[in-house]
Amino acid sequence: MKKRKILVTSALPYANGHIHIGHLVEYLQTDIWVRFQKLRGHDCRYFCADDTHGTAIMLRAQKEGKPETEIINAMQCSHEQDFAAMEIAFDNYSSTNSEENREICTIIWNGVRKSGIIEEREIEQLYDETAQTFLADRFVRGTCPKCKAENQYGDNCEKCGATYSPTDLINPVSSVSGTTPVMKKSLHLFVDVEKEHKFLDEWTAKSGALQPEVSNYLAGQFLNEPLRPWDVSRPAPYFGFEIPDSPGNYWYVWFDAPIGYIGSTLDWCRKTGEDFDSWWHDPNTEVYHFIGKDIAYFHTLFWPTMLKLGGFSLPTKVHVHGFLTVNGEKMSKRNGTFVLASNYYKHLSPSYLRYYYASKLTNRNEDIDLNLDEFENKVNADLVGKVVNLASRTAKFVHECGLSKTYPDDGGLFPKAAESGDEIAEAYEQIDLARAMRLVMECADRANKFIDDYAPWILKNDPTKQSQLQDICTIGLNLFRQLVIYLAPVLPTLARQTEELLNTPIKHWDDSKTPLTGTPVAQFTHLMTRVPRKGIEAMIEDSKEIDAAVPDAVADATKTWSDSAETLTAEPLVEEKISIDDFVKVDLRIARVIDAKEVPEARKLLQLTLSLGGGERRNVFAGIKSAYKPEDLIGRLVVCVANLAPRQMKFGLSEGMVVATGLGGSDIFLISPDDGAKPGMKLH
Ligand code: MSP
Ligand code: ZN
Repeated sequence: MKKRKILVTSALPYANGHIHIGHLVEYLQTDIWVRFQKLRGHDCRYFCADDTHGTAIMLRAQKEGKPETEIINAMQCSHEQDFAAMEIAFDNYSSTNSEENREICTIIWNGVRKSGIIEEREIEQLYDETAQTFLADRFVRGTCPKCKAENQYGDNCEKCGATYSPTDLINPVSSVSGTTPVMKKSLHLFVDVEKEHKFLDEWTAKSGALQPEVSNYLAGQFLNEPLRPWDVSRPAPYFGFEIPDSPGNYWYVWFDAPIGYIGSTLDWCRKTGEDFDSWWHDPNTEVYHFIGKDIAYFHTLFWPTMLKLGGFSLPTKVHVHGFLTVNGEKMSKRNGTFVLASNYYKHLSPSYLRYYYASKLTNRNEDIDLNLDEFENKVNADLVGKVVNLASRTAKFVHECGLSKTYPDDGGLFPKAAESGDEIAEAYEQIDLARAMRLVMECADRANKFIDDYAPWILKNDPTKQSQLQDICTIGLNLFRQLVIYLAPVLPTLARQTEELLNTPIKHWDDSKTPLTGTPVAQFTHLMTRVPRKGIEAMIEDSKEIDAAVPDAVADATKTWSDSAETLTAEPLVEEKISIDDFVKVDLRIARVIDAKEVPEARKLLQLTLSLGGGERRNVFAGIKSAYKPEDLIGRLVVCVANLAPRQMKFGLSEGMVVATGLGGSDIFLISPDDGAKPGMKLH
């Protein structure tokens, strides 16, 4: 097979909100596809970045009295943490607010300029004189000009569905300052995309880059009439890149956002020494964009135009997926179904959602529903009941002897599943993950039937059948490993565990074609537990925390605020690494406070008598007087450093230290164990 070069992107998440399970549909779908291509041996790279520019971030920065960069840096950290926790592995993750991105924006801009399709003209827009900013549609509210419904957005009416321009609103009010905006003229730059109409007709219908439903939608909604010029500039003040040949004007966020795909590639090339041209200027390199249907328009009309005029490769594929609903409804904060990624992985393993989404996502762009009952049942039935169960019913019987020296007769099961591998790979290739998962489960059903029929747990009791037992388990584990290879793009953790169990790395998809023989089998440790019902419930409960009366944007803003406030109080992490030997030198023990007294001469100290169990006691002076009353401490458990060298103080001998956190003053917090811990227990 020829080694392909494939550049893959997901849409760049906005820096003004946290990653939620809706976003994860896209990042998981993409990550799975990328991992598949890598396992097939292709040179496939996954690039993404935070989408940082625009009015929303600028206004938030004003409100919080901070520079924009502080807000976007904190959010990027949070995004990257969420992605890593969900096992979404980018080859590079960057920001649209980077010098690389500015460079590529300039190149593309110059190309577009040269083609002569930029026009400049003055337009009149609503302007907030108090906040000194022009108002994007979303930041104006007023009465609908058509049905007279009050408090409608500047671009469309939620009551009657009318679309209009914010200047048509009756009694418009700026949501930034609450004042009445005025009309103000400013210069804007437009890309006259109509000049590329013919190219777009061709590309959207005939290049094979789009799903048929997407090209039909474009043909019916946009390309059936002249394309309106696209307003790509915003006057100052705006958080973004200033247009080099139009001082005081900035590129609109949707101009520089997709360019971030290229910016992130350039950033990666500079870091790794890779050849940039081979990724964006080589017709043999495939470019795949994964996006949601809400942003298809930007990626299929403007984006190819910009790429063409800027001299970059056109996308091989723009893959559009549908939207997530939960239990059949739009994600809702009131119902607790607006689940942040961090809230998901706090309670549930990433493997569950990775598999569940894979089992639902086809290559069409219809919406997908996360039904929580189905989620629980499907993961339990398929992953725990069918896949992992194969190993848990066989591995322990061959721990001593390893796999048989030659692969036994399995009635053709292994070659049959090896053949299915081609079909499964084709389904992955077509981004039809649901079909791939279905085919894998068919192989799993056949394998389970085999194990049921030969019941190794019965064979093991018959001393004359030990060699047959070894053969049956060798077959079971090989059929298991085949499934794990097919599922490796979806379940990287299971793949890793299986490598350890069978002492053999999974390097390539084709490893599924040859059975393992004669290899040792590690001690079996459980690979995956059933979905905990309690975890699902806790996740929904926790997601209700955000006040449902608060509109989403505001709730998100509060969330960021508290995140960054946390960073401010946190002490920097210690850079210097210690060994486990260093750590175990500290004898940390649970202790009970059996007496606590004030030390009259000392402003900050309390004198504690700690019991470490077995009659072992310590007299400790602790600087916690500003936060704790002696009578509240007696009887509670604390953590103490039991082997700290005793220190003679003015008031007596201190024989240890209690562990606490906080800034001091009333902000001091003792550490205590969960229920069940007893004095004297060691912390490891
Ligand atoms: N910043 C833009 C994309 C710029 S790409 C050059 C953006 N960001 S987003 O954070 O709102 O969305 C990121 C991606 O997640 C988009 O592709 C969007 O369609 C997808 N999703 C956001 N919510 C979603 C669901 N509820 N369901 C499925 N996908 C969703 O758009
Ligand atoms: Zn209306």
